[in-house]
Amino acid sequence: MSIVYLNGTFMPIEDAKISPLDRGFLFGDGIYEVIPSYDGKTVGLEPHMQRMFDGLAAIGIKSTRTLEEWKEIIQTLLAKNGNGNLGVYLQVSRGADVKRYHAYPENVEPTIFAMTTAIKAPVEADASKAKGFSVGTTQDMRWKRCQIKSTALLGNVMHFQEGYEGGNDEILLYNADNILTEASSSNAFIVKDGVVITPVLDNQILPGITRKLILDILEKDGSIPFEVRDITMEEVFNADEVWVTSSSKELAPVTTIDGKTVGNGSVGKVWEAAFKLYTAHKFEY
Ligand SMILES: Cc1ncc(COP(=O)(O)O)c(C=O)c1O
Repeated sequence: MSIVYLNGTFMPIEDAKISPLDRGFLFGDGIYEVIPSYDGKTVGLEPHMQRMFDGLAAIGIKSTRTLEEWKEIIQTLLAKNGNGNLGVYLQVSRGADVKRYHAYPENVEPTIFAMTTAIKAPVEADASKAKGFSVGTTQDMRWKRCQIKSTALLGNVMHFQEGYEGGNDEILLYNADNILTEASSSNAFIVKDGVVITPVLDNQILPGITRKLILDILEKDGSIPFEVRDITMEEVFNADEVWVTSSSKELAPVTTIDGKTVGNGSVGKVWEAAFKLYTAHKFEY
């Protein structure tokens, strides 16, 4: 049975109830996080929590839990759910008012919810064994505040569905200038001539924690050069390797884009080297 946390209490998920007037339900008015954990050990806990605090501040929700309190909630939740390969899902909505009205209500307590979801065991950093992802491409039609990890995910959901209906694992998104932004639920990287390249962070992109960790690990290690800059879709189609990254999929190598082969069609050696480094260092964050 799944144990969740709701507004101060741990309980079976069947007992967790929220009001239909909750603004998370009515407006998607909330912030969420997903933190990966393996056998009770989290990856990137503090950067994940910092991003959540930044998101809450950006939308004017007062944080009612400190970092230390969140850490306690997360470790308790993991233990109560058996400490396997688990993603910890956290959500803070603006709370339930007595009416549906757009303006932020005063004196309403945020609704605080946390649960765990099963995530895949990490794959081996071995290019000959890794499964390549297939992705589609489409113009990014989401809102202009993608840096906020809002629970209002319909734009992302519709893009993911478009990829899914095309038989793909993900879908890469590009803006009106044909510049790669990210993917519907992941950040994106390309590799050309041994150089790892990922888009610059701005309002078109979620500042992914996996992306952040990879860049930090690459920088500290120094053996794989990288650049953070605009990437045209032409560069994407001509890349030697393409990866999508997220907390639940880590670094996933892409071998097909819109049905066309990426590079030589097999999972790349730079992915293997970078993923070896990520695997070796991820628990340091
Ligand atoms: C739109 C989007 N971009 C990027 C990411 C990757 O972020 P992270 O590495 O923090 O999981 C996600 C993760 O859910 C996402 O939804």
